Amino acid sequence: MTRLSRAPKCGRKLGTFIVAMSLTLAAQTPSRQSSTNPPSGFADPSLDARVESVLRRMTPEEKVGQLVQYSAGQPTGPGTGRTDYDDMIARGQIGSLFNVVDPHEINKYQKIAMEKSRLHIPILFGLDVIHGFKTEFPIPLALASTWDPTIVERASRVAAVEASADGIRWTFSPMVDIARDARWGRMAEGAGEDPFLGSAMAAAYVKGYQGARLDAPDSIAACAKHYVGYGAAEGGRDYNSTEISEHTLRQFYMPPFHAAVAAGTASLMSAFNSLNGVPSSANPFTLKQVLRKEWGFRGLVVSDWNSIGELIPHGIAIDAATAARKAFVAGVDMDMVSSLYHDNLLQIVSSGQATTAALDEAVRHVLRVKLALGLFERPFVDEDAAAKALYHPESIALAQTAAERSFVLLKNASGPDGRALLPLATGTENIAVIGPLGDDSSYPGGAPQGSGPRVSLPAALAQRVGESHVSRFKGTGILDGTDEQIAAAVAGAEKADLVVLTLGESPEMSGEAASRAHLGLPGRQQELLEAIVRTGKPVVLIFFSGRPLTVPWAFEHVPAVIAAWLPGISGGPALARTLFGEVNPSGKLVVSWPRSVGQEPLYYNSLNTGRPPGDTDLTRPPTDIVAKYVSRYFDEQNTPQFPFGYGGSYTSFSYGATTISTQRLSAAALNRGLSAGAMAMTAEAQVKNTGSRAGEEIVQLYIQLRGTSVAEPVRMLKGFQTVSTAPGETKTVKFELMPEAFAIWNDRNEFAAEPAKVKIWISPDSAHGSAAEAEIQP
Ligand code: NOJ
Repeated sequence: MTRLSRAPKCGRKLGTFIVAMSLTLAAQTPSRQSSTNPPSGFADPSLDARVESVLRRMTPEEKVGQLVQYSAGQPTGPGTGRTDYDDMIARGQIGSLFNVVDPHEINKYQKIAMEKSRLHIPILFGLDVIHGFKTEFPIPLALASTWDPTIVERASRVAAVEASADGIRWTFSPMVDIARDARWGRMAEGAGEDPFLGSAMAAAYVKGYQGARLDAPDSIAACAKHYVGYGAAEGGRDYNSTEISEHTLRQFYMPPFHAAVAAGTASLMSAFNSLNGVPSSANPFTLKQVLRKEWGFRGLVVSDWNSIGELIPHGIAIDAATAARKAFVAGVDMDMVSSLYHDNLLQIVSSGQATTAALDEAVRHVLRVKLALGLFERPFVDEDAAAKALYHPESIALAQTAAERSFVLLKNASGPDGRALLPLATGTENIAVIGPLGDDSSYPGGAPQGSGPRVSLPAALAQRVGESHVSRFKGTGILDGTDEQIAAAVAGAEKADLVVLTLGESPEMSGEAASRAHLGLPGRQQELLEAIVRTGKPVVLIFFSGRPLTVPWAFEHVPAVIAAWLPGISGGPALARTLFGEVNPSGKLVVSWPRSVGQEPLYYNSLNTGRPPGDTDLTRPPTDIVAKYVSRYFDEQNTPQFPFGYGGSYTSFSYGATTISTQRLSAAALNRGLSAGAMAMTAEAQVKNTGSRAGEEIVQLYIQLRGTSVAEPVRMLKGFQTVSTAPGETKTVKFELMPEAFAIWNDRNEFAAEPAKVKIWISPDSAHGSAAEAEIQP
């Protein structure tokens, strides 16, 4: 058992503690305050004196310059600011550049800063390194589906080593936005819908990027984004408004950011969205009150791309100067690409609309990151060494392991002979790979990516069963196709013994600015699917996508379905090994998989409502008033196709009853325990491998509280761990629950335990299992 961090004793609601500790995971929950103790040298007090010594020598113009960032790689397009970077750097007017990926160019700009600018303050080079730099890992949604923070940490470390060798010392990652709506394309970039899992992943990314010390040459500064609530965009439309109560913000949307801060993230990015009417890039409550005062964050806050300029269309500023002032006064330190700080900040400060102290403080945040990174000592990159850091065989192997662990087996039905289709029997030959995806489907949209050695799925299968035993038919394009393509694919299927169908979304259909109103298969893929199934050949369907897809027909008619997400550079071999059973799938969903788009937003940790449907049959329209006047649809079930936490295996598991160490807890003792760190309860269950293969199972612990001052979710994840078992083996899985597991954000928005009835499940997903019951007394 490991404790991630522990704040000094500072009163009942202060401190950051483990909620549930397990063999493999310790994660955190937020309290109102915590002092951070980042592991990377970022909080090193000796930095303060160095920050002050640089700051003291700066002119107001140079101070503003440190708060200005441009995208040097893409000088055109909206909000890209200026392009005369050489002169500006020489005059000390630029603090950071991003989207420069050529180490030679990085050195060229840095040389100007170090040799021509008056104070020789190095430029901080950033980039969206979101799931690997050149060695491309599965997308973050897939990485989270491993439920394995160590994989995430190791993948981020590889990304840091590769990016830093290139001269990039700052990544705009991790995206830790909670995503409850699959229409929102950026679900692909995060860890899904749960704050507990999201917090564990957030901390893992930060630790991986920043390494043991931020000033190691192969460490890069992390940037937790997009602060905050960005994932709750109305209708799933990217950049849209959000309305989130303070309670919900603190309970669901803020914890992963808090976890990133507690893990020592050097920076945060303020989001595009308006939050309860106040844009996140000009929101003093989230940026000053919570982030700086309550969490004690000492790092850098950068705006999102032109999100300061966007305060004008948001409607809270009618001119550029007001937009700059509002963002700055609210606590945004650095302006990404809009030029509004460059153009207005000096005047804002000299006219007294913002104080010199505020300007100094923002500059301190930037200097602190640059100093912590050791950039003053090592501003340049070794151009010859850069390429050598890329595509190490171990990195590619890790990308493969990550992909293998990220696949979610959604269905693997047994045929009439009692055998499931997967894994494929050794000796399976004559495979038709049909569908528009699977050749090079690993690229996610919107991120600069590598072009390293990749083996497509058909190629990986051909390597295994022989070139002549694999045929390849596109069947249709992703968005459009022809009758001839479909006919050729059907003819190919008829000649094959097995069809591997590769359907889904193009990588550009998820990520930024990739919202969808329909979540089914795009183009003619549904038609292709039905035509292939009609051939009667055994079909394994593999979805490639950055989100769950609503394809109920497939779940009814196809025997085996795998969600492969966008699996990265080694996705092809990882899938081939999984199909043939060398890998037993163990990934589990980190988002609820909807039946239809009308169910969105859909998430497991919802409230019960005053009219839960209970046992009402929701598979058909209501026929009486009892069935009608409940919270339901006329034409769809409430439950997802597959619940959060769900994922199959080639073996099977049975769960024994959940047992707990005590049925009685005391709210007063729990609240004292919030600062004392005493364990509140243990919970355990036996998990048996009832199948005929060894397998890994992600065991989850959920709780429910009733009788509290605010309505609490039907279930909340409070722990998870992965257990490996041999066939027939039983393991006792034990969780240790800290007081934080039972504390809530109450009706006064304080984090505290209250008297309540408690249910605790140790279960394979968020919808099953039997609960133990306890009570929190006053
Ligand atoms: C806009 C995106 O929202 C953000 O995530 C990204 O880091 C920046 N662009 C920089 O590319």
